[in-house]
Amino acid sequence: MENTERKDRVLSMIQPTSVPTLGNYLGALKNWKQMSADNDCIFAVADLHAITVRQEPAKLRKQSLEMYALMIALGLDPDKNIIFVQSHVPQHSQLGWILNCYTQFGEAARMTQFKDKSAKHADNVNVGLFAYPTLMAADILLYQADYVPVGADQKQHLEITRDIAERFNGAYSPTFTIPKPYIGKTGAKVMSLQDPTKKMSKSDTNPKASVYVLDTPDDIMKKFKSAVTDSEARVHYADGKDGINNLMGIYSCCTGKNFDEIEAEFDGKGYGDFKIAVAESVIADVKPVQDRFNEIMKDKAYVEKCAKEGAEKASYIANKTLTKVMKKVGFWQVK
Ligand code: TYM
Repeated sequence: MENTERKDRVLSMIQPTSVPTLGNYLGALKNWKQMSADNDCIFAVADLHAITVRQEPAKLRKQSLEMYALMIALGLDPDKNIIFVQSHVPQHSQLGWILNCYTQFGEAARMTQFKDKSAKHADNVNVGLFAYPTLMAADILLYQADYVPVGADQKQHLEITRDIAERFNGAYSPTFTIPKPYIGKTGAKVMSLQDPTKKMSKSDTNPKASVYVLDTPDDIMKKFKSAVTDSEARVHYADGKDGINNLMGIYSCCTGKNFDEIEAEFDGKGYGDFKIAVAESVIADVKPVQDRFNEIMKDKAYVEKCAKEGAEKASYIANKTLTKVMKKVGFWQVK
């Protein structure tokens, strides 16, 4: 019998502000790949979000294409999933504006990412940075997504998305699916290798703090060897051992081993051996992605064709939701 049940719809996006870090990879991208096997998936390059911080135009263009190619290299099939670039689908900006009018100033002002980013870019606290969560809500709600796989840092943005959706549904009639975050048990918050109390971030100025998915195996090894740990020299998970806890989390994500197994494996061994093993597990995980990425980048016409088709498919779905919303809000529609 034909299975006519609707699959869950999964949606997520990533900013093309640099090559993804190991944090992006373990916290989000790896889950995208896993979820794409049996869900109806939509993934995108969030370039509109990227300009909330000043970007160099040529670099942004190049990084957007590379991020798109990397998503294919990750194993996301552009024929089976919808993969597109946010600015290619104008409905995101359109719904973003409407949702601004259904979001309170106080709600947006409470976002910790807004507070962090405005402190970091004090000379450019623009309105876009403030409205960042309403655009993200539009990204998700346009596609009626059931699940949104993200790292722990995006949880608050998912909560405000749910609040906005419920408010709109309550004011009119059910319009938006209420999305749920999907946050993995391990990898949800990969920390900096140089200051393990801080999240690993694309914008870290210390080159040893973040590992990037396209780093050479040599660089990956060097970065892990210089990772900050503690003086206990025993591989086990405990409060206050932020550096080791972080490395154990990374190793667990790349090998599938749980913390008990990891502790047993490194019983009686020093941090030197452990750091090498963690680096090797990361290299083994990302190397096939790097090889596929280098192949795909030889055929830019293919990448462009996929992005064009992805935007057309996304736009078709986005338009259905946007039309409904515009009708409910009361915009005069002419045929
Ligand atoms: P972005 O580009 O900062 O990060 C992409 C994804 O990586 C996750 N992440 C991490 N996970 C674990 N450890 C870390 N150190 C780490 N750093 C980042 C993020 O949680 C994210 O899942 N606002 C989003 C992009 C976006 C989006 C969306 C996401 C725009 N629209 C709609 C989901 C749905 C962002 O800036 O992600």
